[in-house]
This record gives sequence, structure tokens and C-alpha cells, in this order.
Amino acid sequence: MVTGGAGFIGSHLVEMLIARGDCVMALDDESTGRADNLHSVRDHFDFSLVRGRVENRALLAELLADADEVYHLAAAVGVRLIAQSPVESIQRNLQPTDVLLEELAKVARERGPIKLFLASSSEVYGKNPKEAWTEEDSLVFGPTSCMRWSYGASKALDEFLALAHHEEHGQPLVIGRFFNVVGPRQTGRYGMVLPRFVESALADRPLTVHDDGQQVRCFAHVEDVCRAILQLMDTPAANGQVFNIGSDQATTILDLAKQVVAIVRPGVEIEHESYAEAYSPNFEDVRRRVPDLTKLRSTINYAPRYDLEAMIRDVFHSKRR
Ligand SMILES: NC(=O)c1ccc[n+]([C@@H]2O[C@H](COP(=O)([O-])OP(=O)(O)OC[C@H]3O[C@@H](n4cnc5c(N)ncnc54)[C@H](O)[C@@H]3O)[C@@H](O)[C@H]2O)c1
Repeated sequence: MVTGGAGFIGSHLVEMLIARGDCVMALDDESTGRADNLHSVRDHFDFSLVRGRVENRALLAELLADADEVYHLAAAVGVRLIAQSPVESIQRNLQPTDVLLEELAKVARERGPIKLFLASSSEVYGKNPKEAWTEEDSLVFGPTSCMRWSYGASKALDEFLALAHHEEHGQPLVIGRFFNVVGPRQTGRYGMVLPRFVESALADRPLTVHDDGQQVRCFAHVEDVCRAILQLMDTPAANGQVFNIGSDQATTILDLAKQVVAIVRPGVEIEHESYAEAYSPNFEDVRRRVPDLTKLRSTINYAPRYDLEAMIRDVFHSKRR
């Protein structure tokens, strides 16, 4: 079962599971995802899409009866969504995970455990000033009056709850902290930077860079990320562990914008907008976000296939179609 299976990452994960011969059920309320994202597998004998919410206990219990692995990706994603509807976003990150873990504990008592993959985020590190973050680093959030930190804090609570179920009830699980995942089907609607840039360039509109554009980020292709998820779930040594998943090739947002312009539409302008204009007067950003991938590499020999240029070209071609 893949929760959030009609979303950006979830739909790629579903395709990969089907391709390796699994029988897959996607559970999604289509709040930000779309059934269309699953058109390539829609008619596949081994695939079904259930439209509903993870926190619908009765539905979840019924679906878990047929599951032997759960990939939990359903969440409210992105800093812009948090800024627009903070209450719903926080609840959407906490409640489904809580209900899912409780239902998994029930199933474990009745017929044995179901392994869980929990999608977390690099946002859990908050504004930790280290050059590169390892999984054991401290979480450094800003004040609760600044809503942007609620995304990372709610993802961190999901992790705590999942690890507590692992410790107390032996729930088998792997937690993955994603760092700026990009690729086909990601939409710029919720503020994600690469699709937003490519969509602007394709429409011959200036690219809007927040602040001075010197924020450092690492982008990973969704196929590389999904391969890592599947490998981790198949590796016994990963059970009960947290992993950074992404790329450690750093770039600034301004350089990303320049590369998008060069590839998609040379000549289109790059504009700057303050965070106060884009989000709120007290918005705080993270200047540098780079994962240390030592643990991931030593556990699954992680070797991504896409570099940044290949990712930009892939997003460009998918949006031009
Ligand atoms: N995209 C990234 O760069 C990134 C980075 C860090 C973490 N993540 C995490 O990865 C996961 C997937 O993110 P994504 O980028 O594919 O986003 P997405 O918005 O495309 O996918 C989330 C999916 O979950 C569904 N959903 C939301 N709440 C639901 C609920 N209560 N019940 C059922 N379905 C629900 C949405 O309709 C959507 O299809 C999320 O947990 C997110 O926090 C993503």
C-alpha cells in the first residue's frame, strides 16, 4: 500500500513497485495529488487506486488486511502550503501517521507486523548551521510564532511516534528524510522551486528568485530517490533506522535559475522577491541544506543516476509535452 500514491513521489514509487512485480494499492484523497499521475498503471491488473483519507480508520483497517508493506507518503507538503493553511497542514502531517501507526499495531497483534516506510523531510533539521547534516544531528527550529517551522516540527513528531512504536511494539520500519526531490509530475503550484522556474521559463515569464538566491540546496531525481526507498526496505540492517535520502551535489538557487534559463529559454529574465513579499514578514529561511549521505551509501551502495542538468532537462521535457 502506498499512501499519497497519486502524488508526485508516490506515483513514481507505485510505478516502480508495479514494474518489479508487486501488487499495489494507492490510497490518496487527491488533495494535492491527481489520479492522472497514475495513468501509466491505471489499467494494470495488479494496481488499484482508492480515493480516501488515511485517517479514515475503517477504510484503513479494511485496506491493511490486504497489505504486507506500507509506504506512507501522504502529507501536506511544502512551505507555501503551510503558510497558506497552517492548521490543516499541521493536522495533515500528524493525524494520518498517528492513525496509521495505531492500525499497524492492531494488525501486528492479530496476524504479525507489516513493514512501514515513513517519508520524512530535510526540514526536520530546521536551521541547523552545519555544512552537511548527519542523521544524528540536532533539530534546530525557530519560534512557534513563525509557521514555516511547523512543517519540520510535525515531520519530526511523525518520526518520534514511528520510532516509539518501533521501540515499544517492535514495529518494523525505515524512515527516509528527503532533500529537494524533483522530476516529472511535480507541480510548481505549492512553491517547489524547480517546476516553478521551468513553468515560468516555458511561459516566457521572468523567474522569481527569493531573497539573494544564495541559498544552497541539493536536488535529487525522484527515480533515484524511489530506488533508494525500495533498496532500504529490502535491507534488514535498515530496520528501525533514519536515513537522509537525496543528493549531496550543492548548488545555489540563483545558479539553478541560470541553468534553467540556459536550458529552457535563453534570455528570459531573473527577478528577485523578498521572503516578506513571498510568504510573511517574519518568514525565516534555511541558508544551507546539504545531506551527509555516508549512512545511506554504507547501507545500500547508493549511486544516483541523474546530475542536475539531466534533472532540469527531464522536468523541462515532461512539462513541454
Ligand atoms: N517533494 C519533496 O521534495 C519532498 C521533500 C521532503 C519530504 N517530502 C515528503 O514526501 C512525501 C510525498 O511528497 P510529494 O512531494 O510527493 O507531495 P505530493 O503533495 O505530490 O504528495 C502527497 C500526496 O498525499 C495525498 N494526501 C495528503 N494528505 C492525505 C491524506 N490525509 N490521506 C490520503 N492522501 C493524502 C495528496 O493528495 C498527494 O497525492 C510527503 O510525505 C512529503 O512530506 C517530499
